[in-house]
Amino acid sequence: MNNPYLPLPMRLEKNFIETEDKNIRTFTLTFVNKEDEEKFQYMPGQFAEVCVYGKGEAPFGIASSPTEPGKLVFSVMKVGKVTTALHDMPEGTLLGVRGPLGNYYPLEEIEGKDLVIVGGGFAYTTLRSTIAYILNEKNRARFGKLTVIYGARNPGLFLYKDEIAEWQKRDDIEFITTIDREVPGWTGRVGFIPAVTEQVAPSSENSYAIVCGPPVMIKFTLPVLEKLGFPPERIVNSLENRMKCGIGMCGRCNVGNKFVCKDGPVFTLAQLQKLPGEY
Ligand SMILES: Cc1cc2nc3c(=O)[nH]c(=O)nc-3n(C[C@H](O)[C@H](O)[C@H](O)COP(=O)(O)OP(=O)(O)OC[C@H]3O[C@@H](n4cnc5c(N)ncnc54)[C@H](O)[C@@H]3O)c2cc1C
Ligand code: FES
Repeated sequence: MNNPYLPLPMRLEKNFIETEDKNIRTFTLTFVNKEDEEKFQYMPGQFAEVCVYGKGEAPFGIASSPTEPGKLVFSVMKVGKVTTALHDMPEGTLLGVRGPLGNYYPLEEIEGKDLVIVGGGFAYTTLRSTIAYILNEKNRARFGKLTVIYGARNPGLFLYKDEIAEWQKRDDIEFITTIDREVPGWTGRVGFIPAVTEQVAPSSENSYAIVCGPPVMIKFTLPVLEKLGFPPERIVNSLENRMKCGIGMCGRCNVGNKFVCKDGPVFTLAQLQKLPGEY
């Protein structure tokens, strides 16, 4: 039996500054062993524990898509011990990865329907994975209209800016960006994500919404989606509770009787409404 605590060896191929404030870096990792790569089958919304030898491990959403084989991508904000060690890590360094962990966005259910993705801050990582997955030429026809509303405090804080600019040129996705306050040269929208979601007013008919971002953004966006007619069963969130083992063994991440690491991190609003409000 495979030991779930044993990390797979991976090599840091690329470590680059993602945001203008230099607080978020994006890491591209490649598998050292081909058989590990074949075994690591994941879906958008899942996460992995990244182990920095001698420092510890931390959970991060997988930003790459299963349609982009051969690598895993993570975008990481520098906040403490593991994330600082990662930021300082030279390319070529070996590190470990445990995963894929948790459940994923219900893409089988969303198939044949429209999808609205609402994201803020660095929680955009697994949303990026979802968009890349749907836009892949093998998958695009399986899904209906795709609308993305992605907000950041200022233009320098968006992740994957070049890719967004490319996606905004496509006619099979409506990609709306918004910032909190007007700045010279900005051509996207200005306003907080909940307000912009209300202005864009995506149709809730035959449609799902995936919402990911800081708690305050989620708090004010959920009522807007409900007002637009999205039922709680078709509003999907991802939680980022503190975690340790990531596999339902240690009890660090519990909300009520659910392990966020194993039963989640993806939950519908209908599921969250049945849990104690401690998430
Ligand atoms: C499922 C999941 C997906 C995540 N995806 C990403 C991602 O894509 N990119 C990213 O940058 N981060 C992500 N995080 C958060 C990330 O795991 C933490 O920032 C990381 O564990 C901090 O490790 P550290 O050793 O650097 O910090 P520590 O030295 O352990 O702590 C530094 C500070 O960060 C706080 N902190 C630690 N963990 C969390 C947390 N989960 N939430 C809020 N505050 C925390 C601590 O209280 C402390 O104040 C995710 C978390 C989860 C559970
Ligand atoms: S992190 Fe250990 S049970 Fe969820």
